[in-house]
Amino acid sequence: MHLANIAQLLLIATTSVAAVNVNPLPAPRHISWGKSGPKSVASPLKLSTNHDTRDEILKEGWHRAWQSIAALRWTPAAIEAPISSFEPFPSATPAASKAKRASVPLSLVKVHVEDLRADLQHGVDESYTLDIKEGSAAVQINAQTVWGALHAFTTLQQIIISDGNLGLLVEQPVHIQDSPLYPYRGIMMDTGRNFISLPKIFEQLDGMALSKLNVLHWHLDDSQSWPMVINAYPEMIKDAYSARETYSRKDMRRVVEYARARAIRVIPEVDMPSHSSAGWKQVDPEIVTCIDSWWSNDVWPLHTAVEPNPGQLDIINPKTYEVVGNVYKELSGIFSDNWFHVGADEIQPNCFNFSRHVTEWFEEDPSRTYNDLAQHWVDHAIPIFQNVRKERRLIMWEDIVLSPEHAHEVPKNIVMQSWNNGIDYISNLTANGYDVIVSSSDFLYLDCGHGGFVTNDPRYNVMSNPDPSTPNFNYGGIGGSWCGPYKSWQRVYDYDFTTNLTDAQKKHIVGATAPLWAEQVDDVVISSKFWPRAAALGELVWSGNRDENGKKRTTLMTQRILNFREYLVANGIMAAPLVPKYCLQHPHACDLNQDQDSIQ
Ligand SMILES: *[C@@H]1O[C@H](CO)[C@@H](O)[C@H](O)[C@H]1NC(C)=O
Ligand SMILES: *[C@@H]1O[C@H](CO)[C@@H](O)[C@H](O)[C@H]1NC(C)=O
Ligand SMILES: *[C@@H]1O[C@H](CO)[C@@H](O)[C@H](O)[C@H]1NC(C)=O
Repeated sequence: MHLANIAQLLLIATTSVAAVNVNPLPAPRHISWGKSGPKSVASPLKLSTNHDTRDEILKEGWHRAWQSIAALRWTPAAIEAPISSFEPFPSATPAASKAKRASVPLSLVKVHVEDLRADLQHGVDESYTLDIKEGSAAVQINAQTVWGALHAFTTLQQIIISDGNLGLLVEQPVHIQDSPLYPYRGIMMDTGRNFISLPKIFEQLDGMALSKLNVLHWHLDDSQSWPMVINAYPEMIKDAYSARETYSRKDMRRVVEYARARAIRVIPEVDMPSHSSAGWKQVDPEIVTCIDSWWSNDVWPLHTAVEPNPGQLDIINPKTYEVVGNVYKELSGIFSDNWFHVGADEIQPNCFNFSRHVTEWFEEDPSRTYNDLAQHWVDHAIPIFQNVRKERRLIMWEDIVLSPEHAHEVPKNIVMQSWNNGIDYISNLTANGYDVIVSSSDFLYLDCGHGGFVTNDPRYNVMSNPDPSTPNFNYGGIGGSWCGPYKSWQRVYDYDFTTNLTDAQKKHIVGATAPLWAEQVDDVVISSKFWPRAAALGELVWSGNRDENGKKRTTLMTQRILNFREYLVANGIMAAPLVPKYCLQHPHACDLNQDQDSIQ
């Protein structure tokens, strides 16, 4: 046999071992690749739908996907390969580029959407199927809704790659059947601690669309700043950081529209009654309390806030509810989602000592407790919110049920966002009948591990370890980050948040959100802190962290997320590097253990 023929045979053999070089992220629920060989892709690949493409969202969605495909002519940056059988430079997918192409190239994307009118709201059907057949010129996409079809596009755009020349190909025919495990898949952006500009918000939404995350939880304000223009109270914006660092009503609507065009819901949060000073105090200083107190880490039993600057809405002052109602009503007209987040975390009792209204209320009846005070908030604020839009569901942080200052009775239709004590609190809330959004800080807080932000901190001013056997603030410890250490992508991806839950409890989990609190985040670092770690959550809540045999697939996810990070950057999302580039090019050479089953 000729040497060239042997090389040819070897090439084919390699191709059939590692079926394809690229796999989309999140991994689809079911994907099966064919074996008949690559298919060329015509340029442009045209959209054809079962209606007259009046649906702009679908048309624009495909336009964006095609623009990215054509501009990037993507070459997988980190291919999956068995340990020690890798190509040193996985450029231009050598196997597929040389293999014989199917005779019929792809020239069409045929989309069939069953229900064109389904609105983008909680629980909308996001499933799709995508088929590329050996003898067909069309990529066939079937979806129940436009939103499912958009997800199909972000899958398709990841599997059309460079043919090593000037053209494009799909490595093999493929059948994909896909739908999310959870309807609520989010990241939380905080624009109260630092301002985030619209272009940077759009960048986050681009990354979310590619990783099939469908909820932007927008923590709009905090005690530090109030960036939203409110027509009812134009003075609130005086507490924005500057005239430039504000969101007009039009800006907020643009974010909602940009997100919707990418199958992403925007759920606003106005954190109340705690974390409230900026904005509110401009309307009437008497509806906020303790804003002039020392937040006080010096004497912790007297602290009025968990971080500077202090401030809480006055729960007893009736004027509070008038202002809260008007602000809520106005924002309700801007944010179209049927869910709205009304905060309720970290109520600090000491703060209320500074309120005449509250101290008199306690004096009136000495049996009253801070739990009664929290109940007063629940009883007076929730009806105001619920009267604005009957069909709307409210979200609150779990503190209102599980912190020492919890209320006695919180309606069970309020969705609880769980951030403390991992599985314990998730278990408690779901056992009590609450629907839960998982945001456990030990797994999903993307801001953790960067040290403390409070200044004038003598704890850093230490030259040696007084007790080398004990981890402390500076030596072997978490370095002043209350929720340290840093949550790596593996920490996020490996989180089995339904561990030990009954089936009834599991049904109460609507999904998960990775928060990025912004004390140390602004435009400069937001993308590198969210990405690509948020994509690890994206896959966790879309198709899970286990294979069809129930085995954890983190080691297989490795090459997928390394490639995806390069793909995010190529698409303009400034994701942080996860490894030396060597590890991308040498699959599994950077694993901790050679044993590929070491993650259970
Ligand atoms: C607030 O009042 C309570 C009850 O009187 C008291 O125990 C606590 O020390 C006070 N806190 C501050 C910061 O003054
Ligand atoms: C949940 O936690 C609360 C407060 O710690 C406790 O009183 C309650 O018994 C717990 N409920 C369940 C079902 O675990
Ligand atoms: C799950 O339950 C088992 C058996 O009770 C226990 O040993 C384990 O610690 C629990 N896991 C978690 C994460 O709570």
